[in-house]
Amino acid sequence: MKSFLVSVLTLTLCLSVVFGNSSESVNVIGSTSAPCPPGWYYAIDLEQCYLIPNIFLKFDDARYYCANDAGGSLVSVYDAVEYYAVSVYFQQQTFVQAWPAWIGLRTYPYSPYFRWLDRHNANYTHWINGTAPAHTDANACFAWSKAKPNDGWFISDCNLQRPFICKRHAAICPDVNINASTGAISSPNYPGSYDLEVACVYHISVPEGHIVQLSFNLVGIDPYSNITIYDGPTTNSRILELISSSSIQNIVESTSNSLTVQFFASNYGGASYIGWSATFKAIVPVTLSGSLTSPKYPNPYPDDDDKTYKLNVPLGYRVLVTIWDFVTEERSDYLVFSDDSDTLLEWAGNMTSKVPKSLRSHNNTMDIEWSADGNTNFRGWNLTWVADPIWG
Ligand SMILES: *[C@@H]1O[C@H](CO)[C@@H](O)[C@H](O)[C@H]1NC(C)=O
Ligand SMILES: *[C@@H]1O[C@H](CO)[C@@H](O)[C@H](O)[C@H]1NC(C)=O
Ligand SMILES: *[C@@H]1O[C@H](CO)[C@@H](O)[C@H](O)[C@H]1NC(C)=O
Ligand SMILES: *[C@@H]1O[C@H](CO)[C@@H](O)[C@H](O)[C@H]1NC(C)=O
Ligand SMILES: *[C@@H]1O[C@H](CO)[C@@H](O)[C@H](O)[C@H]1NC(C)=O
Ligand SMILES: *[C@@H]1O[C@H](CO)[C@@H](O)[C@H](O)[C@H]1NC(C)=O
Ligand SMILES: *[C@@H]1O[C@H](CO)[C@@H](O)[C@H](O)[C@H]1NC(C)=O
Ligand SMILES: *[C@@H]1O[C@H](CO)[C@@H](O)[C@H](O)[C@H]1NC(C)=O
Repeated sequence: MKSFLVSVLTLTLCLSVVFGNSSESVNVIGSTSAPCPPGWYYAIDLEQCYLIPNIFLKFDDARYYCANDAGGSLVSVYDAVEYYAVSVYFQQQTFVQAWPAWIGLRTYPYSPYFRWLDRHNANYTHWINGTAPAHTDANACFAWSKAKPNDGWFISDCNLQRPFICKRHAAICPDVNINASTGAISSPNYPGSYDLEVACVYHISVPEGHIVQLSFNLVGIDPYSNITIYDGPTTNSRILELISSSSIQNIVESTSNSLTVQFFASNYGGASYIGWSATFKAIVPVTLSGSLTSPKYPNPYPDDDDKTYKLNVPLGYRVLVTIWDFVTEERSDYLVFSDDSDTLLEWAGNMTSKVPKSLRSHNNTMDIEWSADGNTNFRGWNLTWVADPIWG
């Protein structure tokens, strides 16, 4: 209980720090949900949550309770570290100290003779008196006694009513900024089942002049969860697409170089839903026309600036660029136009007497490279382009 409260406090503090500053990167929503639901014990190092409800049930009812009422499963204990973590919590529950509690371990009529309900092998065990159970009882359950000196697990009749321990993975959800040309994102814990009641946010930025193309490889989410895709850098941007279990989109494209994905996981997930995975890449949008200016135009452009722009018009068209204004520093601040086969034009200096100036690419793409050195005070350039039919 104590460490759960501490974790909630820490999260609250983080949030107020973020809200106190209206900074550009909005690290908000993914962090708002605490890793464990109220009342659960949070084992921070294990990223697991545990609960001992204040009721006594038969093994199968306890199993059902953990799954349906608590969104988890009867506890599995993988190693000594987890044994110790659960012990700390168990010992705080004064009402059950005298009672052994059900754990998610039971016997089977074949090898391995006992296994965790979550299908992991029980390769760590902590038997009472160090005595492993005989393999004779094929349908028995295990309980954990904390009564000293007999601390450990023992075989027990599944129909007895006992307290029990539930476990679920802590809802630790990313709020991440990804700046790259290509990459992959997925639901937390993928390809394991996703954590319940989380809201994860992924801010994706690709290089300027590109748009983000996001392709879902797989979407396996429950009917109450959704993936919301925003056309811009934050969750305040326009909603581009809402993906749910009934309306699955394969490919989503932004209109600018950033896109934000938010995954809302409901409380109804569980082992049968593995979540989702997607890849993204920067692509050059195909356009019919557009315009470009030097940064800050018509105010002086910044020093030491390098940028490349790629123009992409449909196949069967050429890029027809018209430069309307061009004043930069002689020799050192230049704009280079090229296509797959040639450098088409390279300009630096005061070109006021040569504008407007038009040029065409040989094919459907054109690259424009801008480079400015230090110590500048010129207004720069502006240009427009249109798709020009090759047959025209
Ligand atoms: C962040 O908040 C602190 C305290 O309010 C303030 O001193 C600081 O200037 C802020 N930083 C930004 C980038 O707003
Ligand atoms: C325990 O079993 C799991 C598979 O269920 C395996 O991944 C793990 O490596 C095993 N640990 C040890 C210590 O053998
Ligand atoms: C463990 O050993 C103690 C004392 O030797 C005994 O009283 C107890 O019944 C044993 N527990 C089990 C589950 O065998
Ligand atoms: C990622 O891109 C965003 C938006 O363009 C920018 O604010 C942020 O500083 C970049 N982060 C890194 C680590 O480059
Ligand atoms: C997406 O899921 C969240 C959490 O379940 C819900 O609050 C929200 O309304 C859903 N969005 C839409 C558009 O259905
Ligand atoms: C581009 O330059 C021309 C000529 O100076 C000017 O008339 C036009 O308004 C400029 N366009 C933009 C978008 O600034
Ligand atoms: C650029 O050249 C024109 C004449 O062609 C001149 O009027 C103008 O003042 C020059 N601008 C700069 C910034 O040198
Ligand atoms: C024009 O672009 C197409 C598609 O990218 C390519 O197949 C073709 O070879 C290019 N032609 C020239 C002359 O570069």
